[in-house]
Amino acid sequence: MAACQITRTKNNGMNAKGFSLTMTLLTIATVGATQAHADEAWSDKNIDRLLSRMTLEEKAMLTSGRDAWSTQPIDRLDIPFIWMADGPHGLRRAPSTDTWGYGDQLPATCFPTASALAASWDVALMREVGTALGREASALGVNILLGPGVNIKRSPLGGRNFEYFSEDPYLSGKLGAAYIEGVQAKGVGTSLKHYVANNVETERMWANSNVDERTLNEIYFTPFEIAVREAQPWSVMACYNRVQGVYGTQSPDILTDKLKKDWGFEGIVVSDWDAVIDRVEGIRSGMHLEMPGKPGHLTNQIVIDAVRNGELDEARLDGVVRDILRVVLRAKAVAASPPDQNLDEHHDFARRVASEAITLLKNDGPVLPLAGNRHRKIAVIGEFAVNPRYQGNGSSEVKPPRVDNFMDIVRQEYGEDYEIEYAQGYNLGDDVDFSLIEGAARLAAEADVALVLAGLPLQYESEGIDRLHIDLPPSHNRLIEAIAADQPNTVVVLTNGSAVAMPWVDNVPAVVEAWLGGQAGAGAIADVVFGKVNPSGKLAETFPVRLEDTPAFLNFPAEDGEVLYGERIFVGYRWYDERNIAPLFPFGHGLSYTEFTYSDLEVSAERISNEDTLTVTVTVTNSGDTAGKEVVQLYVNDMQASVRRPEKELRGFRKVDLAPGENQTVEFELAERDFAHYSTRHKRWIAESGEFRILVGASSRDIRQRQSVTLQSTEKLNYRLSEYSFFREFWSNPELQPLLIELMPNWLGDHVGEGEPLQQAVIQDFILDQPLIKFPYFTAGEVSAEQVRAFVERCNSMTYTP
Ligand code: BGC
Repeated sequence: MAACQITRTKNNGMNAKGFSLTMTLLTIATVGATQAHADEAWSDKNIDRLLSRMTLEEKAMLTSGRDAWSTQPIDRLDIPFIWMADGPHGLRRAPSTDTWGYGDQLPATCFPTASALAASWDVALMREVGTALGREASALGVNILLGPGVNIKRSPLGGRNFEYFSEDPYLSGKLGAAYIEGVQAKGVGTSLKHYVANNVETERMWANSNVDERTLNEIYFTPFEIAVREAQPWSVMACYNRVQGVYGTQSPDILTDKLKKDWGFEGIVVSDWDAVIDRVEGIRSGMHLEMPGKPGHLTNQIVIDAVRNGELDEARLDGVVRDILRVVLRAKAVAASPPDQNLDEHHDFARRVASEAITLLKNDGPVLPLAGNRHRKIAVIGEFAVNPRYQGNGSSEVKPPRVDNFMDIVRQEYGEDYEIEYAQGYNLGDDVDFSLIEGAARLAAEADVALVLAGLPLQYESEGIDRLHIDLPPSHNRLIEAIAADQPNTVVVLTNGSAVAMPWVDNVPAVVEAWLGGQAGAGAIADVVFGKVNPSGKLAETFPVRLEDTPAFLNFPAEDGEVLYGERIFVGYRWYDERNIAPLFPFGHGLSYTEFTYSDLEVSAERISNEDTLTVTVTVTNSGDTAGKEVVQLYVNDMQASVRRPEKELRGFRKVDLAPGENQTVEFELAERDFAHYSTRHKRWIAESGEFRILVGASSRDIRQRQSVTLQSTEKLNYRLSEYSFFREFWSNPELQPLLIELMPNWLGDHVGEGEPLQQAVIQDFILDQPLIKFPYFTAGEVSAEQVRAFVERCNSMTYTP
């Protein structure tokens, strides 16, 4: 193995690359307040000047919206308003700031939704999507686009899963950051949502997420942390729900300590629409802007009164107003006004994006691509072929200028070379129409191949409601079974925003997951099934066999408003690995029309410290005869941990494009945080000494190369023990044991003398698990409570290496 040079970096536990990228972007886009130049409209000097001229009433007004979508302008001081609009996968811009824009929103490109975008595992593409969205937003006069959503898919039942990226925090964070970078490069801000632990729709306005501290940090904070540190969104949207009993709009721990102090967030916190319960508490906790504005601006008076009666410090309000002014003035100053939205070009781009996301789950034979075999007579089955399902339901609903449908596309583009017939197969309701199934089965049986377009109708996936099961409509399942019975070349093409069960999977040779592909998704499906595009999507979420296998099965959605995160850190593939449950299709899985081989995994050193950056290289070769893209995935496994850790955790990925026979060496860099877990005892991330395995592969269950490294920590941490710590903690520690003997020599001499196995056993079985504070009694006064406390203090002044 080649031993390369180790680069030493200090990086606060975040990937060093993340920081250099942030710095570059800050320079280009002059994002943060700290970057503001003295003569810029949003400079501290200008803001202070404005603030000094504002009345208390005006300050209060500025911390609440004017109406549905805009902030409050103050004409007297030339403070403009800014316009916000949903998001995330296209603009839902209402005709005016005081109308809601449901149904009458302006036309805008509907890109594939987040679950599709994530399946591309393509950070560069994500940035391009962001740029296109940024252009459309600025053409429509929108200053802040309400997205991306980086909440974790804790259960496949989550009603908004289509709007979120992944079950994995690292993947979600990286894609979120790229989206933000793309949008903001166009002079439009973003609102990273829904912060945080917002994982059920049921009772979403008051659900209380009971999530333990380690899990909150490792799983639910992480995507937000990555996106904030790497891309500095102009705003973060505070969630509806409570976390550990405190509303997301009024939690100082979450809004100030984490977001602002730990991660260095420089923008403003905007409430989710109508999420504010107590504005004064919100302002105290780090929330800036209540949205939307309330009729008659009633809640402003509450803020004014709170300042007047001394309940709210005006300096605190000033800080919030200052941050809002910075964003508002900056948004106006950098706003561009492109002549149009670029709708035609964006339609073609949306097709490319959708094709990058399509995930080939199964391809026996191989049946696909159609262009590669002799099948000429094609039966296209399913209402979705003429009436496509292409986006989710709720606030993210875009009104696209046009929507492609599969039958039109294939007739136009392939009609001369293939005989293509259509049968409806099912209707969009929930009833099973046997005559439609029979007609479709007859047509399919006579063809060379059947393409069945199935999936979830609109009413199955929506903001505001969770799914009750992971099944397709019975009409779709029955149709697929009927077609597969007489047609061996049955290809199922699914459109849905989240995982579904596939009871028929063994009876069909091919399954294509096309997600909710946006307005041009139908063309992308055609590109993939006919072979114009070699599929390269990979699952960003596990597809389970049954709902009962899923991590949150026993605790989803909520009981009496309480959501128990009982599976802890074992979300998604972490759960299936730990429980040894075979999924239907694992996280990271996706096939190609070509083959990739992995070789020569090398690490820059076999022994590292927590201060080092480890470089990992692996060679990937396209060993087939078709050009294609592969998503190379790197996972880390902590083999010796003081806490229970997942069998593997995603810490890097790259999408590579390879011609037949071509190879590429892919490089990853791993830093301290990539090896660390969140220690609740120390309230920070810690990479512990010990052996780690570096796993590189084509999916979470298809690891092709492995390598071990040993980490030796250079940290010196103080013990964090208390009088309630167990005797065991002191006794089993070679450094502390002699001190313990010093503390109670007589009692220990009596109880742990050599050759007294019975008493040894008593010590082990009973004494070891006693809190130290009980020893004044056990030792009949040999040690006093004061002495125990002093002893603990002495231990805590000592350090150890984790
Ligand atoms: C949703 C947000 C959305 C907002 C504005 C809320 O109900 O949760 O995601 O941005 O409405 O439409």
